[in-house]
Amino acid sequence: MSSKDPLDEMTGGNAAVGSPEGGAEVEVGHLPVMVDEVVETLAPGSGSLQIDATLGGAGHAERVLDASSPDGRLLGLDADGAAIARSARRLARFGDRVVLRQTNFGEMAEVAPAAGFGRVDGILMDLGLSSYQLSDVERGFGFRAGGRLDMRFDTSRGRPAADLLATMAADELAALFRRYGEEPFAGRIARTIVETRRHTPVETAEQLAALVERAVPAPKARRTHPATRVFQAMRIAVNDELVALEAGLAASLLLLRPGGRLVVLSYHSLEDRIVKRFIASEQRGCICPPEVPICVCGRSPNLRSLGKSRTPSAKEVTANPRSRSARLRGAERVAA
Ligand SMILES: C[S@@+](CC[C@H](N)C(=O)[O-])C[C@H]1O[C@@H](n2cnc3c(N)ncnc32)[C@H](O)[C@@H]1O
Repeated sequence: MSSKDPLDEMTGGNAAVGSPEGGAEVEVGHLPVMVDEVVETLAPGSGSLQIDATLGGAGHAERVLDASSPDGRLLGLDADGAAIARSARRLARFGDRVVLRQTNFGEMAEVAPAAGFGRVDGILMDLGLSSYQLSDVERGFGFRAGGRLDMRFDTSRGRPAADLLATMAADELAALFRRYGEEPFAGRIARTIVETRRHTPVETAEQLAALVERAVPAPKARRTHPATRVFQAMRIAVNDELVALEAGLAASLLLLRPGGRLVVLSYHSLEDRIVKRFIASEQRGCICPPEVPICVCGRSPNLRSLGKSRTPSAKEVTANPRSRSARLRGAERVAA
């Protein structure tokens, strides 16, 4: 890639072009969730500095850049190199208003200042995975994926899901499904995996989905695939998602200027609980017990909640069923 390549300039040369595994990338599109609510809450003015910590297909980023015209700037992050490359193409028209970096948002406190975004007006975290990732059959996020079960956002780090399924003991797998998937049949599923792998390695998403379907009792009526919780649990474990979320939230306190806003979209209760508790705890000032007459903890609030969480409209859920579990929370940084 030449140093004049606009993709190289935007990304500091760290974009992986195309599917990281070299497989065909399926350009199915990703509809940004609650995009009007996100832009309304971030309220990105002209001249402002924003961070989109989860670029995905850059749908939110594009709207934030439009809303902060003519000179608002945006730092876009994603752990997935393919997301960075795709976003660079979509956002090319904004020129040097956009800076992109392939990184985990858990490292935002170091990466953002180094990219010139040390004090920002807004941070968006749209958690989980994008439709691009879900439909890339090489990566194993969806039930029908035929490639080796990988599930890593960043394919250069960590262990693929197939490795965990091949090596973890039954009780460890069961604990993982319970903890990250709240799966009621965790023990049965874990035992079936361990029995199966004695003669056949569990290596593809299709195999795992079929195995879970066999292991759990057939429900009378079901809204989702029986393997949904197991897939969620594997993805969270492979990417250490909840640890990254805690680190990303903590980093937001260091990066937001007073008055700057944090917006988080979460898609399941484990994520939302962390976000809700973080905002509540950073909103609280003094944490001294009521019987102590004078404050000794010296704590002052770091955030002000922007009200109750919001969910997508019925109209949006109909148009984009993947938005149905979304929950948006916002908070404003207050001066320390
Ligand atoms: C729901 S999608 C974002 C969609 C995006 N808002 C849009 O409008 O297209 C979530 C993205 O966050 C990325 N991601 C998830 N966890 C991450 C983390 N800890 N650090 C960086 N990126 C992460 C995923 O790779 C994925 O591309």
